[in-house]
Amino acid sequence: MHQGLDELFSPAQVSRDPADLAVWGRDWTTSYPANATAVVFPKTIDEVVGLVKLANRERLSLVPSGGRTGLSGGAVASNGEIVVSFDKMNQIIGFNPADRLVTCQPGLVTANLQAFARAKGLFYPVDFASSGSSQIGGNIATNAGGIKVIRYGLTRDWIAGCRVVTGSGELIDCNHGLIKNATGYDLRHLFIGSEGTLGFIVEADVRLTAPPEPQRVMVLGVPVFRDILKVLAAFQDKLTLSAFEFFSDLALTKVRAHRDLQSPLSSPCPFYALVEFDESSLPAAEAVFEATVEAGWVVDGVLSQSEAQAAALWQLREGISESIAAYKPYKNDLAVRISDMPDFLDDVDALVSRSYPDFEVCWYGHIGDGNLHLNILKPADLPLDQFNARCHEISPTVFDLVAQRNGSISAEHGVGLLKRDFLDYSRSSGELGLMRSLKNVFDPNGIMNPGKLLK
Ligand code: MLT
Ligand code: ZN
Repeated sequence: MHQGLDELFSPAQVSRDPADLAVWGRDWTTSYPANATAVVFPKTIDEVVGLVKLANRERLSLVPSGGRTGLSGGAVASNGEIVVSFDKMNQIIGFNPADRLVTCQPGLVTANLQAFARAKGLFYPVDFASSGSSQIGGNIATNAGGIKVIRYGLTRDWIAGCRVVTGSGELIDCNHGLIKNATGYDLRHLFIGSEGTLGFIVEADVRLTAPPEPQRVMVLGVPVFRDILKVLAAFQDKLTLSAFEFFSDLALTKVRAHRDLQSPLSSPCPFYALVEFDESSLPAAEAVFEATVEAGWVVDGVLSQSEAQAAALWQLREGISESIAAYKPYKNDLAVRISDMPDFLDDVDALVSRSYPDFEVCWYGHIGDGNLHLNILKPADLPLDQFNARCHEISPTVFDLVAQRNGSISAEHGVGLLKRDFLDYSRSSGELGLMRSLKNVFDPNGIMNPGKLLK
């Protein structure tokens, strides 16, 4: 089957082994079966060009695959597609200290990019729990965010250039690593966040920056949900934050049980905020902490005294996703403006308690970016399809609350398959029409990750 693949690639670069198809045919989502026809491992840009041209000739559907850590089904191959893995295009191929630019292949693991930057006395600030396995190409394709967005922005802000093979098999070079380039449409930004539906990123110029000072971490107990926003404003008023995250006590319970961790505070609290800042801001941070206690928003707190303690406190937040994976959570990744967040929290909280009285609901997220992760956990005795169907019934009401505030139904996890049918809660019909037109321009035969993002 698909003989052309075997002409284009060496035998070691093509697999039809069911065990491989099961691995490379899916991401971290649990609801979509893997059903790929083959997985290919290109080593060069020319091979990717050849593959996309073949796919156009023979109308083969291609699914790009990075570290497969996505949470929206963007890299799932359920319909006999060919998976294009970038695992063998994983090298750093250039570094220019004057430009502070790294040129890399798409399969480079995020943590390896971070380590490279450190070795050069620099810093790549985009970071998240899955950075040990996620790949830079996937980060670009989904415009990955994570835990430092409040200070450093999203992946988009660090991509100074990219080479892309479009859906017609044309290789284009976007922005060439320039800082300034006022020559019309910046196509680079179209590909960032396009989830592999317009083209495959085959090389990227990634910007690095100066490393920050040593960081301090505080975990604070906040009894009332909406007071977390008051705590955020109090800190932001006095210092620059590197992170401001939150999690509920249920989330803490799950991560502690999963990783056998100590509680950060002497008694439990309904919610926790994790605050990270430069060491030189410590006096200001301590003063804000005292003020928030006096105001009654914070009841207790702990401050890291070493890097190891800071890392241990971060585990309480970063380990949550993994610790609830066994519950096959129904994931919501919502965003509204910070100013809308207090009322939004109240409305979502009331809706969720009304709608899911029998389900555990786990809250956490990047609240400093206006981004809430709302995970509904599947009871052990409820079959997955029934559980998903129940959650699906409520989703439109959750998304109505988002749409009323012009928010986003997918802040950072992408649309993929999971949120595709709800996209009109965040995008107008005019926008969706233009998005479809763009898809047709770059991918006229609809071979690039078909069915993802757009119907
Ligand atoms: C996180 O913030 O932990 C990640 O986005 C993963 C998740 O939401 O589960
Ligand atoms: Zn997140």
